[in-house]
Amino acid sequence: MATWIWIFIILAGSLFALKIIYVLCIALVLPVTQGALYVSTSQTKISAFINAVPMRADQMLVDLGCGDGRVLRKALKRYGVRTVGYEINPLAYLKARIFSFGSSKIKIRRQNFWEADLSDADVVFCYLYPDVMKRLAAKLAADLKPGAVIVSSNFSLPGWVPSKIVKLKHSLHNDPIFIYRSQIGAPCPAGNNRIQWPLPANGGVHEKAPLIWLLNNN
Ligand SMILES: C[S@@+](CC[C@H](N)C(=O)[O-])C[C@H]1O[C@@H](n2cnc3c(N)ncnc32)[C@H](O)[C@@H]1O
Repeated sequence: MATWIWIFIILAGSLFALKIIYVLCIALVLPVTQGALYVSTSQTKISAFINAVPMRADQMLVDLGCGDGRVLRKALKRYGVRTVGYEINPLAYLKARIFSFGSSKIKIRRQNFWEADLSDADVVFCYLYPDVMKRLAAKLAADLKPGAVIVSSNFSLPGWVPSKIVKLKHSLHNDPIFIYRSQIGAPCPAGNNRIQWPLPANGGVHEKAPLIWLLNNN
């Protein structure tokens, strides 16, 4: 057989094997991820989030389900912020470790984030799945410290009022980014006495419309 045919067979076989590994890794962790599959946020959307939420070098950014760690790397590059990523999918975890190799300010943990203590986080980023958002809201309300910021790509926290919604004027990347800020000092209706997250007072209808930022692609 001609050499080029062998090269083609090896390349096609490798691509096929990679796809199989990708699907197997997703299937393996499905009971934990509950539909939040390993799909990366676009660099365009990460830039929009990073522009909207300034961070200091002494702060900590946590990505719940960090995929290949791209959000953490971009935030570190821009602000020098300390970062922690939780990732349960073995393939995504491996990629995150390889791509972030040598950076002392990026910690990648192969851990289920539901079991993690998030009390040190200043900013929490997530891109998950609608089915888990209610449970996530309860965890964040219980764990986070006053002044913390939550950023959720695509999916809102049910019943919470975002302080900002960022939307890109881009046909491919125009899903909203929801930004929530805790209000310090008031008692929390969810039973947490430390902070109040902005829940609508009338049980569901938002009294004040959140600020919506429409950004040009940058
Ligand atoms: C849609 S991807 C987002 C990846 C990355 N945050 C980004 O924006 O590019 C969601 C990731 O969360 C991970 N994940 C979902 N539930 C998790 C859990 N309970 N613990 C750790 N990782 C989880 C999945 O494996 C998946 O890689």
